[in-house]
Amino acid sequence: MENLFYDINLDKVPAHIAIIMDGNGRWAKSRFMPRTYGHKVGVETIRKVVKECSRLGVKYLTLYAFSTENWKRPKEEVSALMGLLVKYLRNELEELHKNNVKILTIGDISKLPQACIEELDHAKEKTKDNTGLVMSLALNYGGRNDLVNAVKNISQEVVDGKISVDDIGDDLISSHLSTKESPDPDLVVRTSGEQRLSNFLLWELAYSEFYFADIHWPDFDEKELQKAIFAYQSRDRRFGGIK
Ligand code: FPP
Repeated sequence: MENLFYDINLDKVPAHIAIIMDGNGRWAKSRFMPRTYGHKVGVETIRKVVKECSRLGVKYLTLYAFSTENWKRPKEEVSALMGLLVKYLRNELEELHKNNVKILTIGDISKLPQACIEELDHAKEKTKDNTGLVMSLALNYGGRNDLVNAVKNISQEVVDGKISVDDIGDDLISSHLSTKESPDPDLVVRTSGEQRLSNFLLWELAYSEFYFADIHWPDFDEKELQKAIFAYQSRDRRFGGIK
């Protein structure tokens, strides 16, 4: 394969990579630019990473685009982010579809502006039968919120007599989360040097490998993705056993 910057084993690429795309604001600020400029350049990074994941054979990519806490940001920034989402989908959908990418969302998108909901519904519908990379956009997503909803739905099923308490186990809980269509991530990447989860995929990351990149999201690219995969492949995953 061309353009491999690291000695990656293409037979052992992580099936599912989840990314906390952090540092857009700081990246822009260090260039004396508005924070929203950082988000704009961040969308370019998304484009590169999606393409590279497809090329390397990653099956699932989950991107933390907007958390349940991000509503606390100034309303101009929130609307800029929503605008970028709409623009991204309008500009990229054809290309994503051509590349066989299937688009999903996790989180409660019903609280997003109408234009976002419409573009997302359209994108999901159009790509629903695609068999390539599954890209899940986490939008108005919070790990705790997703677990709270799962607990409520499971409880209701118990109350309704559809399941019994003894049916509740790992698989049943996983199947009630908004991530139910993807396996648990093998690798989670966070950019910008911060080392925390920020309410991302709390249940699903139980056995994932963590990789922290010391650069901001707008500077992340194909080579950095390969670096993360290479680091992942040098680790020894034991899932609690001893091997
Ligand atoms: C983190 O940087 C980034 C976000 C909160 C949003 C990520 C969104 C995009 C890259 C663009 C819009 C999404 C799509 C799917 C088109 P930060 O603002 O937290 O940076 P900081 O930590 O330096 O303040």
